[in-house]
Amino acid sequence: MKVMAHRGYSGKYPENTMLAFQKAAELGVDGIELDVQMTKDGKVVVIHDERIDRTTDGMGYVRDYTYEELKKFNASKVKGDQFGFQPIPSFEDYCRWAKDYSFFTNVELKTGVFYYAGIEEKTLEIIKAYGLEDRILFSSFHPMSIARLKELAPEIPCGALVGDHGLGNAGFFCKRYGFEYYHPDIAALDDEAVRECKEHGIGINAWTVNDLAGLEKLYEWDCEGIITNYPGVPLEWLKGRGK
Ligand code: G3P
Ligand code: MG
Repeated sequence: MKVMAHRGYSGKYPENTMLAFQKAAELGVDGIELDVQMTKDGKVVVIHDERIDRTTDGMGYVRDYTYEELKKFNASKVKGDQFGFQPIPSFEDYCRWAKDYSFFTNVELKTGVFYYAGIEEKTLEIIKAYGLEDRILFSSFHPMSIARLKELAPEIPCGALVGDHGLGNAGFFCKRYGFEYYHPDIAALDDEAVRECKEHGIGINAWTVNDLAGLEKLYEWDCEGIITNYPGVPLEWLKGRGK
């Protein structure tokens, strides 16, 4: 079972910052999950919300700022003033850094609220510029984004993201549209959903699993991945368990 750091090592460090990514890499994670949105000047940036209010000391929408303006805000707000100034990373900055490591990156395209025209092409272009194509897993709550990515780069795996309501016949759906993975909130999983995905050869990466009960359940179901804010815990727990 692969361990993915949700927004980096976000349990301890400010989410979606280079610090959180660096700390996840130091733990030896298999993968890093991050979220991308687009600025006013068409730059792909790593941030979870459409607005910057929750995670930075600024206000307003990501799409209303240029990247030059955006990078002046401090994205470490969620953890108080413990970690000093941490800018919102551009996706390019992230890729430049990640290319020297062996983990893969689960790039979640945040197109569910605003559909940022061309974000799939731009994201892919950056990935290719840094030669990261074989260490990427795309996901999105918006099936249009992963469908578009499948057209542009069919060899890169994609996961269909859904919340705790789940998706009926998710395995069939993913297989039918060529998505290799199902990415549900763990609350949406039960024996039948797992069985149905396995029947169609679809891997399951569940989120956001921060407790031992969830970890044990995913292991019992033989899921492919766990997306967690505390990646050190499953990494330790999985040692010596053989899968
Ligand atoms: O990709 C899994 C998870 O990150 C989806 O939810 O809101 O944390 O981006 P969210
Ligand atoms: Mg995410």
